[in-house]
Amino acid sequence: MEEARIPRHVAVIMDGNGRWAKKRLLPRSMGHRAGMNRMIGLSEHAFDRGVRYVTLFALSTENLARPKEELDGIFRLFRDYFSSHAETCRKKGIALRVIGDLSLLPPDVKETVERGLERAKEGERGVLTLAIAYGSRSDIVAAANRAVREGKEVSEEDFSRLLSTGEVPPPDLVIRTGNEKRLSNFLLFESAYAELCFSEKNFPDFGDEDLDAALEDYASRERRFGKI
Ligand code: IPE
Ligand code: IPE
Ligand code: MG
Repeated sequence: MEEARIPRHVAVIMDGNGRWAKKRLLPRSMGHRAGMNRMIGLSEHAFDRGVRYVTLFALSTENLARPKEELDGIFRLFRDYFSSHAETCRKKGIALRVIGDLSLLPPDVKETVERGLERAKEGERGVLTLAIAYGSRSDIVAAANRAVREGKEVSEEDFSRLLSTGEVPPPDLVIRTGNEKRLSNFLLFESAYAELCFSEKNFPDFGDEDLDAALEDYASRERRFGKI
């Protein structure tokens, strides 16, 4: 694949963890564990292919209305993830970032996430951003409020920098797993010209070869950005 045909930024809506577990007669929490275990491997594979930024949608603000038992399981996984895997990311040269409203998480989970982020700040191989307690509409509204507070009109470019994704380029490719075809409040402003790719596979089953297939598909598309 030639260099220009490789997306600089790939964003993944990791859906289907619950269905993955259900198919195996396992509790949903096992599906979340399997999904979480797949996150680093998948991003490593993307970085090896030349992708520079990977953003994974791990938990939406809307997901916070799920039953307490499921959320407690997910929070436990985040605690484990950021206390152990942050170190894995550091060792593998992956810079870890988070977008989302961490104040919506239990305080100890928020602290563990923040400590983990401190440990894996830098990394030359690529930037992995996890969207946790993230909702794109509220991110856009927060950016609009920031602009209002600054008291001056903003350009599209200024505005995009006020979003929580301000440091990273917009996604070139958005992949959704789990056989649903919607964005579910993910990177709505940023994805204006992203190529979209939908996989029938549940996230824990979405292998390196599936990512390669999505990258091939991306490479074959003509991005016109409204021109002819
Ligand atoms: C995605 O898997 C992870 C989260 C949204 C937390 P789901 O939990 O949505 O799995 P399904 O869609 O019910 O299978
Ligand atoms: C989208 O999945 C959110 C994440 C992957 C974190 P959902 O399972 O919450 O989306 P809907 O409810 O099917 O739209
Ligand atoms: Mg789902």
